[in-house]
Amino acid sequence: MPITILIGAQWGDEGKGRVVDWLASSADIVARYAGGDNAGHTVALDSSVYKLHLVPSGILHSDVVSIMGNGMVINPVNLVREIESLRKLGLEITPERLVISSRAHIITPAHVALDKANETVLGDSKIGTTLRGIGPAYLDKTGRAGIRTGDMLLDVEEFAERLIATIESANARLALQGMETLDPQSAAESYLEAAAVLKPFIKDTSIYLYAALTAGKHIVCEGAQGTLLDIDHGSYPFVTSSSPTAGGALTGLGVGPLFVDRVLGVAKAFSTRVGGGPMPTELEGEIARRLRGSGDNFWDEYGTTTGRPRRCGWLDVVMLRYAVSVNGFSEMMLTKLDILSGLDELKLAVAYEIDGQRHEYPPVNNETLDRATPIYETLPGWHEDISNCRAFSQLPAAALNYIERVASLCAVPINSVSVGPERDQLVLR
Ligand code: GDP
Ligand code: IMO
Ligand code: MG
Repeated sequence: MPITILIGAQWGDEGKGRVVDWLASSADIVARYAGGDNAGHTVALDSSVYKLHLVPSGILHSDVVSIMGNGMVINPVNLVREIESLRKLGLEITPERLVISSRAHIITPAHVALDKANETVLGDSKIGTTLRGIGPAYLDKTGRAGIRTGDMLLDVEEFAERLIATIESANARLALQGMETLDPQSAAESYLEAAAVLKPFIKDTSIYLYAALTAGKHIVCEGAQGTLLDIDHGSYPFVTSSSPTAGGALTGLGVGPLFVDRVLGVAKAFSTRVGGGPMPTELEGEIARRLRGSGDNFWDEYGTTTGRPRRCGWLDVVMLRYAVSVNGFSEMMLTKLDILSGLDELKLAVAYEIDGQRHEYPPVNNETLDRATPIYETLPGWHEDISNCRAFSQLPAAALNYIERVASLCAVPINSVSVGPERDQLVLR
């Protein structure tokens, strides 16, 4: 199995981190291919809870190499901070275990300031970004004005010069929006320190991965965000600025499609979304509160990166079906099935009704999507505690029925579900 691509099938936070942690136990390399520290991937292990934003979730396995691919946008100061905090938790992080692409783009303090300024200008129509500078950094990348991790390998003066030039150019944009500008020298200082720390970790990861693949190594590509946040395929403009879908894994790592033999879509057993944008099955009231949780548990639906309460609703099969078509999943996995225990009945949105017509796929325009009424199918719930189930045969009939109905509506097999956040709380077929 040369390459497994793991993809969020919804709006992010599907539990990708914990699934990568599972797949990493039989992998040589875990490689992240998109996004930046807008991501928050939680892995619970032996009474510790790791919240990873930039470092791939493979880092928890001492025999796995973690790669940060060229498709990522990296804030070097935040990355150094994350490495230090993981070291404090006892993880060994060396240039042999963590390799950063020399072609990833750098998020500067100016990008962070611009992200905030853009959201302020949008007011009520804001995207609800994570304010990590993601959009402005990708804008500079595609506008051919960005700076890259490889620039940190230049001598200090040259890197400083590039960094200051990008901050000055952002200052002009900030001033135009009537926002406070940054002092380029002091903004650059912490970046120069971070660059010195990160230098030994930076390599051409595409060449590294090709050598590994031709030597028969197994790579898990760790998706961040989710299909419905994809810049091309999501509910634009309420999306992130990268390509978290299957194609993004190839361009975001510089690997060829013929090495891929498995595309695993990870979906939560219900829907959540954080930030603005359409969400046809969003609920308010008692069921939403049940799905979200009180906030007392680390797995409750509050953003790993921003702490914002996540919007919750029934599983939206229309969106899942769309994710299947965009990514071509070879299989899907359902996470957080345990959260549905105790509900008398469960609903699946199997289609939308828009202006009297039935739709099996989401329409392209958000204005049309806003008029969509989900057509629900009601299934029986179950009351048993399933958190100790480890085989499909141990699951209550109603839970099996729920899983099989989702698989059949999406025409993709579901061979694994998770029933709790811990590493071993998996049910495999
Ligand atoms: P990611 O961004 O896709 O990695 O997901 P997040 O880490 O942001 O959010 C998923 C949350 O659900 C985390 O707190 C996980 O610990 C938790 N989680 C994952 N799988 C399960 C599960 O099967 N049951 C429960 N109760 N929690 C889970
Ligand atoms: P993981 O990897 C959930 C959302 C933001 C916002 C939109 C754009 O943990 O699943 P951005 O800061 O990227 O410009 O914000 O995308 N978003 C996420 N939502 N999980 C994520 O990552 C997300 N990354 C970005 O909330 O709506
Ligand atoms: Mg997350």
